[in-house]
Amino acid sequence: MKTSVLDNRAALAAAVNQVAEVAGYLWQKGWAERNGGNITINVTDLVDGAVRALPAISEKKAIGTTLPHLKGCYFYCKGTNRRMRDLARWPMDNGSIIRILDDCAHYEIIADNPVMPTSELPSHLCVHNYLIGKGSTYKATVHTHPIELVAMSHHKPFLEKDVLTNILWSMIPETKAFCPRGLGIVPYMLPGSVELAQATIDAIDDDYDVVMWEKHGVFAVGEDVMEAFDMIDTLTKSAIIYRDARSMGFVPDGMTQEQMKELSEVFHLPK
Ligand code: 13P
Ligand code: ZN
Repeated sequence: MKTSVLDNRAALAAAVNQVAEVAGYLWQKGWAERNGGNITINVTDLVDGAVRALPAISEKKAIGTTLPHLKGCYFYCKGTNRRMRDLARWPMDNGSIIRILDDCAHYEIIADNPVMPTSELPSHLCVHNYLIGKGSTYKATVHTHPIELVAMSHHKPFLEKDVLTNILWSMIPETKAFCPRGLGIVPYMLPGSVELAQATIDAIDDDYDVVMWEKHGVFAVGEDVMEAFDMIDTLTKSAIIYRDARSMGFVPDGMTQEQMKELSEVFHLPK
C-alpha cells in the first residue's frame, strides 16, 4: 500500500482534503477547463518534526523573487498542468508539499511525489509572504477562471475602480455581506509572471480579498480554501444575475447606494 505524508496526520489531511473538495467544485462550476486555476495553502502550522525532517525529492527550484517572511514555511500546491477534476480525487498525485529554503528565494518538493508546483507559484507565494508580513491569519490562495466574471472583465468601463464591485454588490444583498471588500482589478499581465504577482499584492493591499486578473480569472485569499471559494462563488452569483437581467432585455436597477449603506451599517461591514 502506497504511503502518504497525510497518513496519521489528521489536521494536514483535513486541509489538503478541503483543497480537493474545492477543486471538485471549481470543475463542477465550469471554471476549471483542462488545468485551469490553481490553489495553494500554507500548511506550516500543520507539519510536525517528522515532516520537517523529510529529505527533498526534487532539485532546488528558484521562486523568481525573494520572500523573507516565507523562510522555513511549507505549502501544499496544485501541480502545474494538472487538472482540478483529477486533484479533486487524488490531491497528493496532482499536487505536492514544498518547503521554502533559508535563502527565501528557492524551494524544494518534499512529499508525496515530485509534482512541479503551479506556474502561478510566484503570485501565490508573493501573496502568502505579504499576508504573513502583515500578520494575517489567512492560509489559502485560490486562482480560478469564473466564466461570467471573466466575461465582465472584457468591458473597459467595468475596470474603473469599484465599478464592478458596485454592480456586483447591488445585485443581491448577500454579495456585499459575504464579499465585503469587493473586487479589486489587476490589468492584464502575462500569466505566471513576477509582475502579475506584484500587481496582485498591490491590489490586495488596496483592501480586497478577491481581485480580477483582467481577461484571465480571479485570485482570492481567505482563512481557508472554502472561504476563498465562497467569496468567488458569491461574486459570480451576482455576475450571473446581472447577465440574466441583461439577456432578459433590461439593465438591472440594482440596490440603491442607500440600501447598500444601510447593509454596511447593520452588518458592520468594512466598506
Ligand atoms: P497551472 O496548471 O500551471 O496551475 O496553470 C493554470 C492557470 O490557470 C494559469 O493561470
Ligand atoms: Zn489561470
